[in-house]
Amino acid sequence: MPLVPSNVAGAKIIGWGTALPPKIVTNHDLSKTMDTSDEWIRERTGIERRHVGGSTSSLSIESGRRAIEMAGVDPLSIDALVLSTTTPDRTVPATSASVQHALGLRCGAFDINAACSGFVYALITGHGLIAMGMKRILVIGTDTLSRITDWTDRNTAILFADGSGAALLEASAGPGQLLGWDFDADGSLEDLLYAEIGGTLHMDGKEVFRRAVRIMVDSAEKSIKSAGLTSNEINLIVPHQANIRIIEAACKRLDISMEKTAVVLHETGNTSSASIPLALFDAVSKGRVKSGDNILLVGFGAGMTAASAVIKWDQK
Ligand code: ACO
Repeated sequence: MPLVPSNVAGAKIIGWGTALPPKIVTNHDLSKTMDTSDEWIRERTGIERRHVGGSTSSLSIESGRRAIEMAGVDPLSIDALVLSTTTPDRTVPATSASVQHALGLRCGAFDINAACSGFVYALITGHGLIAMGMKRILVIGTDTLSRITDWTDRNTAILFADGSGAALLEASAGPGQLLGWDFDADGSLEDLLYAEIGGTLHMDGKEVFRRAVRIMVDSAEKSIKSAGLTSNEINLIVPHQANIRIIEAACKRLDISMEKTAVVLHETGNTSSASIPLALFDAVSKGRVKSGDNILLVGFGAGMTAASAVIKWDQK
């Protein structure tokens, strides 16, 4: 179980930003083009509407720019860009190259694909780069799943959507915000959720649901333990925004009340890499987080991947 070593540089989030495309598609809109209903989607998933549009680079540039502006730092002082996405704009080069150029960065840039666990993978990687001596890392999670969704398939079209969230990490003098972390994958389950290159998403929803709860809980427990905490010391849990019933089941097993949960999926749908930063920064912007709070981020996704991290929030 990974422990965060005390003899390496820690980091904290000094700026953040989010982006959602302006076009909103409601459940009612979907019920006009496929055999579904607002009532069914809300009851089975918690989703009411979702944002659709833009490209992975355009949304990343928007959220990334906001994070840099909020932190008030020179883009030239950023040492690396880590972009989590399942939906790159092109096969080559990585979408992070376009984003790096547009944001005026002069640093290494690369994409990470760990499906809906990707933002947490990227955040952990960013902390690792800081432990290796870098000072500032821009971590972005963006997906434009609408581009790989079959809009005639009611099994998937009701779930997936587009969005982006960014966090700017800076090396800190003290121990840093990351208390514990975990990531995992089980490639034997790859057929439960996949899209071929150029194709659309195929999903065994029931099986994904069943496995999701188990792997989220398993990963979250490892992170909480490696942070030296218990679940009742978690002030806010920010789960992957896939389905409210998955979140409720995972929180129940973790013994964390739903009042401590960040949820935006009713407005965003499942935005994959963007879902955790969208929910986290929504909670922060609503004043639900104060300095010293222990925040558990936990995601799961195709692969099947899982990732979690416990961070101690440090408001500048
Ligand atoms: N509208 C109306 N009825 C529907 C719809 C729909 N959109 N979809 C399915 N149904 C029907 C089914 O045909 C079935 O009818 P039947 O009882 O007559 O056979 C009934 O509703 C129940 O269908 P289930 O598939 O059993 O519904 P379930 O409660 O499992 O919900 C869902 C389906 C929402 C997909 C759920 O299984 C789920 O959320 N799974 C997890 C998906 C997920 O999280 N994916 C993202 C992973 S992260 C990543 O990497 C992108």
